[in-house]
Amino acid sequence: MPATIIVGAQWGDEGKGKATDLLADATDLVVRYQGGNNAGHTVIVGDEVFKLHLIPSGILYDHVTPIIADGVVIDPKVMLQELDGLEERGLRPFERVKVSGNAHLIMPYHRELDLLIERRLGKANLGTTKRGIGPAYADKASRVGLRFQDLFDEKIFRQKLDAVLVHKNEQLAKIYNRLPMDLEEIADEYLGYAERLRPLLTDSTELIHSALEAGQHIILEGAQGTLLDLDHGTYPFVTSSNPVAGGALTGAGLGPKHVDRVIGITKAYVTRVGAGPFPTELFDEVGERMTDVGGEYGTTTGRRRRVGWFDAVLARYAERVNGFTDLFLTKLDVLSGFDTLKLATAYRYDGQEYRNFPPHQSIFHHAEPVYEEVPGWGSDISEVTRYEDLPQAARDYVDAIEESAGAPVTWVSVGPKRSQTLIRRDVPLVPTG
Ligand code: GDP
Ligand code: IMO
Ligand code: MG
Repeated sequence: MPATIIVGAQWGDEGKGKATDLLADATDLVVRYQGGNNAGHTVIVGDEVFKLHLIPSGILYDHVTPIIADGVVIDPKVMLQELDGLEERGLRPFERVKVSGNAHLIMPYHRELDLLIERRLGKANLGTTKRGIGPAYADKASRVGLRFQDLFDEKIFRQKLDAVLVHKNEQLAKIYNRLPMDLEEIADEYLGYAERLRPLLTDSTELIHSALEAGQHIILEGAQGTLLDLDHGTYPFVTSSNPVAGGALTGAGLGPKHVDRVIGITKAYVTRVGAGPFPTELFDEVGERMTDVGGEYGTTTGRRRRVGWFDAVLARYAERVNGFTDLFLTKLDVLSGFDTLKLATAYRYDGQEYRNFPPHQSIFHHAEPVYEEVPGWGSDISEVTRYEDLPQAARDYVDAIEESAGAPVTWVSVGPKRSQTLIRRDVPLVPTG
């Protein structure tokens, strides 16, 4: 059976955790393909809330094998904390989670440099999660990174660390006036994790391909979102990996022939954490209400998320660079009670109108949204269980999003729980019967 890619269509936090968890019921493997513990994916099952950072959101189902693939960066200390937390909650992660030996490690100097680089940028900082993500991916690209498999070969681990630490310590001392880091201390700490992590070490491409050959279904779970993509996002205000659908293929080690669905997860409005341009951002009481009702505070860092109206220019762009077969629309419930809602259908800059994502960043940074106003709906919709029972205005709003984004809306989410999901088009991931 084929694979399904789940991608954030905006600036992250679109509800990928909820969507992945919901759809994982019908799948066999859930694979995280990029990012690291900068991600925070919330899954709610009954009264239990799970905030997952590295562990794939399929972990809640006993029948699912969660896989951390080659494209991910792993902070082993944080991963162990997360695994221990899930173990305490009875999910047996040490037996179930599989990790590619090719995934790169986040080292103590990556975390330190992330902090120092941000501090040095001052007002021009990116607002990173300070988890060491950028410096870890930079070392991977410079071919001086340490990988998950290196934890299990002490000689190689020390050799690689020795070679790279010389440069890191020079950087720390000469540029940032910091004390050098100690090789023995880092080696002791990291090699100390190896024993507990060894059972997780896997050839993940082998596992994925045997599953495909055996007719199993796979979900590839993205972290972050399209506009945070290193190549296709709002550079330099991006993360350092490729959340887009193409990144799922390289990150998991899979060819396009295996993928038949690409699901874009999108909020019914837009949020962003950290710095960077945001054309439809709201600074008034409307925005404040969205933040409060939507609980828009970061899952990983607790930071208040910036909020704004739905932006169809960005949605079309996300459709273009990912090739969505479906949209999973989240947080429609948050918009209940507004008299009117706005959707940006184009931007205006210097007397010109742009219906598509502008090719030059200066235009995007100064873009004025051109809004279409549509009627809101008064009643709470979070208890609605059938799409047909939504108020007409809510259904019209979904139609407007679908039309402007250029991809069909298959699911509409009206609350954080699994049960608060309405099926608008009956096209199951895995055909039944
Ligand atoms: P992710 O990073 O894409 O997995 O998203 P996060 O978990 O960081 O943020 C999404 C937040 O919205 C979480 O707190 C979810 O529980 C919550 N959520 C998801 N879908 C809905 C929805 O349809 N309505 C409401 N009100 N909350 C939702
Ligand atoms: P999930 O998977 C929202 C943002 C940071 C910052 C930029 C770079 O939960 O959607 P980084 O630490 O990656 O170098 O930070 O990216 N960012 C996210 N924003 N959701 C995320 O993940 C994010 N991961 C990183 O706020 O602006
Ligand atoms: Mg999140």
